[in-house]
Amino acid sequence: MNKKTHWEGVYSSKPADALGWYKPHLQTSIAWIKELGLEAEAPIIDVGGGVSTLVDDLLNAGHRSISVLDISEEALEVARARLGATGEAITWLNGDITSIDLPSHHYELWHDRAAFHFLTELDQQQSYRDNLLNALKPGGHLIIGTFAPEAPPKCSGLPIQRYTHEKLNNVLGGEFELQRHDKELHVTPGGVEQMYLYCYFRRKN
Ligand SMILES: C[S@@+](CC[C@H](N)C(=O)[O-])C[C@H]1O[C@@H](n2cnc3c(N)ncnc32)[C@H](O)[C@@H]1O
Repeated sequence: MNKKTHWEGVYSSKPADALGWYKPHLQTSIAWIKELGLEAEAPIIDVGGGVSTLVDDLLNAGHRSISVLDISEEALEVARARLGATGEAITWLNGDITSIDLPSHHYELWHDRAAFHFLTELDQQQSYRDNLLNALKPGGHLIIGTFAPEAPPKCSGLPIQRYTHEKLNNVLGGEFELQRHDKELHVTPGGVEQMYLYCYFRRKN
C-alpha cells in the first residue's frame, strides 16, 4: 500500500479523537510558538498537520497566514469542515512533503509534529530537508516533534525513525541551531505511552 492510500484510509475510518496521536490541543507546540512572539502576518506552515487543532489555536491566537500541509486530502477536509467559515482563511496544501513544491524562503515558522519521523530512508529525509531549506526564511523557526528512543518503533502501524536531539540535529544539518529540546509523554486514546522529543531550531541567517 502506498503512503497516500494508507493515510486516506486512516482518516476515512477513524474520528479525530480515536487517532493514536490525538490531543485536544498541542500544548507544547502552542506554548513554544507563543514564545517566538511572531507577528500576526508571519507565514506559518504545519507540515503533516492532519486533523490537529493547532490551526484552530493559531487562528484564535491571532495568526493570519497559516498553511496546513498533509498527504491526506481526507484529513484536510475534516479539518476544514471543523473550522467552517474561518477555515477559508487557511491555505490547505495536499501533497507529499518529500516532493511538493513550496514557495521559496516564505515561511517564518515550520511546525511538524509526528510527520518527519515516518521518513525512514535517507533519501526521503534529504528531500524533506531540501524542501525545508527552500521554504523556510533564513532566520526562520523550526519546531519539530518526533518519537523519542523510548517510544514504540511504529506509529499508525508504520515503521518510524526515533530520534534523540543529537541525532535530529545531525540529520537536519548545519544550517540550523538547536535552541531547545524537551520530551513529552503522550498517552494514546488506547492507553499506550509514547515519548515524544520536541526540538526548536533556528535557521541561521
Ligand atoms: C501521526 S500524524 C500527526 C498529525 C498531526 N501533526 C498531529 O500532531 O495531530 C502524521 C501526519 O502526517 C501526514 N503525513 C505522513 N507522511 C506524510 C508526507 N510524506 N507528506 C505529508 N504529510 C504526511 C499524515 O497524513 C498524518 O496526518
